[in-house]
Amino acid sequence: MSQIKPTDEITTIEGLPATVGQDLHPMQQAWLDEDVSQCGYCQPGQIMAAVAKVKQLRAAGRPITDDELDQIRNICRCGTYSRIRTAIQAGAQKM
Ligand code: FES
Repeated sequence: MSQIKPTDEITTIEGLPATVGQDLHPMQQAWLDEDVSQCGYCQPGQIMAAVAKVKQLRAAGRPITDDELDQIRNICRCGTYSRIRTAIQAGAQKM
């Protein structure tokens, strides 16, 4: 947070669809298609981390591997990790 500058742009989960001009971002749609959420508490952070990871990997020209997904450290108390990984791969294909 201390590194954020006044000129930096910040996207929230609510603003994510506007980044693609659709009602839902492809990652959000993948989350629904894969029925990822249980209690939902962690899901906005999981989706934002997933989008950031996919963008980071694309910019670096690297594939989305299990090792790369292991670097997403968001905690899900409901243990939805396998569905999260499936959704990330599905969402990434449509980003
Ligand atoms: Fe419940 Fe992740 S869905 S904490």
